[in-house]
Amino acid sequence: MGRLSRIAAIVVLASAVLYVPVRRWTAGGVCESQARMDGKTVIITGANTGIGKVTARDMAQRGARVILACRSLEKAEEAAKEIRSQTGNKNVVVHKLDLASLTSVRQFAKVINDAEPRLDVLINNAGVMVCPRWETEDGFEMQFGVNHLGHFLLTNLLLDLLKKTAPSRVVTLSSLAHSFTSGIDFDDINYEKDYDRRESYHRSKLANVLFSRELARRLEGTGVKSNSLHPGVIYSELYRHQEDFVREIVGTQVANMIIERFFRMMGKTLEEGAQTTICCAVSEEWQNTTGLYFSDCVPKEPSAAGMDDEAAARLWDVSERMVGLKS
Ligand SMILES: *[C@@H]1O[C@H](CO)[C@@H](O)[C@H](O)[C@H]1NC(C)=O
Repeated sequence: MGRLSRIAAIVVLASAVLYVPVRRWTAGGVCESQARMDGKTVIITGANTGIGKVTARDMAQRGARVILACRSLEKAEEAAKEIRSQTGNKNVVVHKLDLASLTSVRQFAKVINDAEPRLDVLINNAGVMVCPRWETEDGFEMQFGVNHLGHFLLTNLLLDLLKKTAPSRVVTLSSLAHSFTSGIDFDDINYEKDYDRRESYHRSKLANVLFSRELARRLEGTGVKSNSLHPGVIYSELYRHQEDFVREIVGTQVANMIIERFFRMMGKTLEEGAQTTICCAVSEEWQNTTGLYFSDCVPKEPSAAGMDDEAAARLWDVSERMVGLKS
């Protein structure tokens, strides 16, 4: 047998044996809440695709006014059209938001603050993953800049509206990947030296956990709740992390494709991947819960670095300076 067919045989065999137990494990929790969202407003970043779009559809189904905050207005409008026709909810709108531009974040927040009388749920969903060392418009390393700093500024600029609407919720998507790093490197937060795209992704996801936690602390008594979460192992995420590694050991396109199928099959569907976000956004069960990290629709302990309150406070301070909220 050639190398390729051996790999194919192993993958097929492994799929057959592992499919049921692995899928049962990856499928995870389901949001059982029947809560309606009529009269409530929800903003979702990166809502034109993936679990963001599934989440937006769910919110629309529950009767919410849903604002899709996306970089591409064209793609967002397409998603909005689809959601309107699937749910019968006409109250689905799109606004331009490029998290890689502080100017765009400020413009978006102004549009919302000027026009929207309330904001019940802000879902910080958009994310960039393991990209090369790109920079945002403002010169921030892309993953830290978009995943953390863009959402940091956005949330801060919408806080008054969230407080006015309280009880309200901020839901920040992190990832299990936050636990693959030992901490934020405050000496090289913008990754000027030795850029490692995986490590940078892990740190940006850790920043999401720390931000959400510090936000909860700062919002004590305001009625605004803040939680972060791991959406689950979704094939795209799992696979993108392994891609280079797989290429190195396997080499060929075909084998690569077979292994991609394997990851696709074993990971969560988008529908399953949106459940924890939906839970944190709507469920009555968690309406008073704040400062926690969720996985499979229940609170779970983050990594030790994710519970470092000193680092969380320091990150907040550094972030405020970076986005120009404080000089
Ligand atoms: C949340 O707090 C409110 C007000 O104190 C209370 O009425 C409600 O039962 C609480 N909900 C849960 C799920 O603990």
